[in-house]
Amino acid sequence: MVSVLTQIKETQAANPIDRLLAATATDMAKVNALILSRADSHVEMVPDLARYLIESGGKRLRPMLTVAAAMLFGKGSGTAINFAAAVEFMHNATLLHDDVVDDSDMRRGKPAARMVWGNKASILVGDFLLGQAFMMMVETGDIASLGVLSSASAVMAEGEVFQLAKTGDLTTTPEDYAEVIRAKTAVLFQAACEVGAMSSGADETGRQALATYGLELGKAFQLVDDALDYGGQSGTLGKNVGDDLREGKMTLPVILALAEGNVAEREIITSALGQADATDAQVSAVVAVMERHNTLVRTMELAQAHARAAQQALAVVPESEMRALLVDVVEHSVMRAY
Ligand code: IPE
Ligand code: IPE
Ligand code: MG
Ligand code: MG
Repeated sequence: MVSVLTQIKETQAANPIDRLLAATATDMAKVNALILSRADSHVEMVPDLARYLIESGGKRLRPMLTVAAAMLFGKGSGTAINFAAAVEFMHNATLLHDDVVDDSDMRRGKPAARMVWGNKASILVGDFLLGQAFMMMVETGDIASLGVLSSASAVMAEGEVFQLAKTGDLTTTPEDYAEVIRAKTAVLFQAACEVGAMSSGADETGRQALATYGLELGKAFQLVDDALDYGGQSGTLGKNVGDDLREGKMTLPVILALAEGNVAEREIITSALGQADATDAQVSAVVAVMERHNTLVRTMELAQAHARAAQQALAVVPESEMRALLVDVVEHSVMRAY
């Protein structure tokens, strides 16, 4: 008896991501098996590169959300397995492409696939994963969900292109940035949650609630990621601090610092922005400007506001353990690695 109580207590105390892992474990085993089998190809370089990325310890947050959203409305397994695997393939395809676009050397704590196989192979295997993702969606026969995910795929690419167009553009506004993160990141979280709910026969209210939950969580997630790029530690991030600055990426901390800094402060930023060889000392000087104007804290506060909105979206869903867990997951996702 005591041990059961202790167990329950420990499960409750465990961090929400671990609890989500435990709650979705049965379905995620199926998702992972599907992911591995669909990464296969008779062209050796395809599975070699794909598995290198897939097995390198991503959090699998999006597919877990798909499965959890399906469970929330009473039905796990079923078509949610295919949609979850497809969502993770879409995500991994985007990462392969994104690391080429961003000239990134590290991903998930290891050299990015492009550092091992080159940019060309990275792009092509990304295309392969995207194709496989659509195959898995088609197999479900669920045209409505296929529509949600196809649209997400197009919007994500648009988001990446919009961000590219804004690279180093000092006139970029917070509204531009909001559109970039909605499109490149939040829409996939939204679709992941929405199709999970749909696969479980959720009604329109439930479907909308999960779509909003995913959208708001995704925005919060990217805001945190962008703050961590200046304030995190590369060990816990799995990527390098200061990369966004060196790439000329116009994220909220830098947009606000440019808008509010004096001439000298703006010069500190513009002399490093988009300079691939900017030194760590230059990055630190830019972070000091951000700290003077509190822009990292304000970026985290905006993330918190979106996190609250994600949690509130679930209010219309009947109370359950899974609903409580999804609320807790938001809290944890915006606190990661700081
Ligand atoms: C990375 O996403 C890309 C962003 C949207 C910031 P994740 O942090 O979910 O990446 P993995 O899959 O866990 O590596
Ligand atoms: C995340 O974009 C990848 C996409 C959502 C397309 P970033 O370029 O900001 O993320 P990291 O830092 O490479 O993970
Ligand atoms: Mg990137
Ligand atoms: Mg990018």
